[in-house]
Amino acid sequence: MQARKFWLAFLALLALATASWLWFSDDGMSGNTSSDSHAPSLAQISRGEYLTRIGNCAHCHTAAGGAAFAGGRAIDTPYGVVYTSNLTPDRERGIGAWNADDFWRALHYGISRDQRLLNPAFPYTSYTRVTRSDADAMFAYLQTQPGATTLNRPSALRWPYNTQWALRIWRKLFFSPVAQADGARTDPVHSAEWHRGAYLVQGLGHCLECHAARNSLGAINSDMGARGGVLPNTQWYAPALGNAAEASVASWSQDNIVRFLTSGVGPNGYATGPMAEVVLHGTQYLQPQDAAAMALYLQTPELFARETDAPASAVPASGSTDATANANGPKLYQKFCADCHGDQGQGQPGAYPALAGNRAVTLRNTNNLVQVVLNGGFAPATYGNPRPYGMPPFMLQLNDEEIAQVLSHIRSAWGNQASGVSEFDISRLRRAQSH
Ligand code: HEC
Ligand code: HEC
Ligand code: HEC
Repeated sequence: MQARKFWLAFLALLALATASWLWFSDDGMSGNTSSDSHAPSLAQISRGEYLTRIGNCAHCHTAAGGAAFAGGRAIDTPYGVVYTSNLTPDRERGIGAWNADDFWRALHYGISRDQRLLNPAFPYTSYTRVTRSDADAMFAYLQTQPGATTLNRPSALRWPYNTQWALRIWRKLFFSPVAQADGARTDPVHSAEWHRGAYLVQGLGHCLECHAARNSLGAINSDMGARGGVLPNTQWYAPALGNAAEASVASWSQDNIVRFLTSGVGPNGYATGPMAEVVLHGTQYLQPQDAAAMALYLQTPELFARETDAPASAVPASGSTDATANANGPKLYQKFCADCHGDQGQGQPGAYPALAGNRAVTLRNTNNLVQVVLNGGFAPATYGNPRPYGMPPFMLQLNDEEIAQVLSHIRSAWGNQASGVSEFDISRLRRAQSH
């Protein structure tokens, strides 16, 4: 009796030792081992749900009218269209047959389960910073979602961008996976909270995928930098987070930054266009301590472009507007805009943003102004701001010349000092949208 018990215990121990050896030994993932070998806990799954929210995974991986995470959404790039993949646990068509290592490799190295190099329209250039345990949590959560049988669509990129060798070269030039522990890295200069903020902004939040300028091969070529980026699909301009004349929040209070991220209400205006979607699907769900950490990080002086790098944003009118534009601008403004934005562009607190002294109005890149007037503006409806006021579209009421006139006016009235907008700037965006 005693002997049998002993052998059972011995065998159990042996099995345990073998299992843990198999688990912790090199799995070909450069030392990154899954943090949990057992069935995921509820806590891990709910953390995964939170992280996929903050990372905005569902937004790209869900097609209009399609099942959540089933992919198939077209992502426009300057080189053609890339379709997002099915991340549901369907074994044939989704990632049901993947394990946590496969998933980590996709996020960290940008390599699919079948070794295919993934297109950086999937922002793994940022997600490479995601820690192994966060990746595992997201994987565990995705595996609990309903499976969908949506078939992955091959990308429609132009040659040579559709080839693996082009991607290989691109990756050699512009991508290196960050060191393993980077996401949790600490240094003596900055607090743990600052590192958490850096991780969320640069990694999961992938803010720079929109907010930084890109070179001609589509690689992010500045840090927070002086220049923001034009989004290839919508032509919206994501202003630079390191430039005081653009989107820097250095002069905002911590509370204002947190409020902007979690409700879409900023001190001068509202999150609008693609930023409204970021807030709506992602940042409004930030836990208070994470939002505070991001705010702290976004105010770090290191992030700001050196003055000499900063393009002057408020360039006085350089003669690009003619006299008739200026004569008609104020009239159009009174007729179509003043009811909401006020006679002096002062706006109405809590409802309509001021246009006087608003850096979104004097931004060097005028794409967003044109977008807002053509298509209207919608702040996100969030828990913190459930019923935002909307800005009506003027696409049908105002022609290109009139939009140029009214925009040139608001950029140079009430103390604003920015260059005029030309008719061409309007027609270019109208055309870009009509296909
Ligand atoms: C900006 C849009 C975008 C966002 C945001 C995004 N993805 Fe993707 N993702 C893509 C695209 C596009 C692909 C396909 C790339 C390809 O086929 O080369 C992809 C592919 C993937 C793949 C590889 C699937 C396969 O079959 O090889 C995984 C895994 C993945 N994404 C996970 C995620 C996770 C997790 C998140 C959130 C943290 C996320 N994605 C957020 C656009 C996005
Ligand atoms: C999909 C592209 C995209 C992503 C991702 C994105 N942004 Fe934006 N962001 C924009 C655009 C476009 C604007 C300009 C429109 C506006 O002001 O709302 C903007 C504006 C802003 C502003 C300026 C607000 C103001 O009133 O001056 C801040 C601050 C900002 N974003 C922070 C962030 C942070 C932090 C992240 C990461 C969590 C992020 N953004 C991710 C596109 C993006
Ligand atoms: C019915 C009220 C209303 C009218 C009329 C109106 N707007 Fe707006 N406008 C808004 C609201 C509300 C917002 C905030 C929503 C947003 O930014 O998406 C806004 C936002 C804007 C912004 C963006 C400001 C920022 O901080 O990002 C600009 C620029 C603007 N309006 C210009 C105009 C011009 C020019 C006209 C006249 C052609 C006009 N608006 C007419 C309500 C109005």
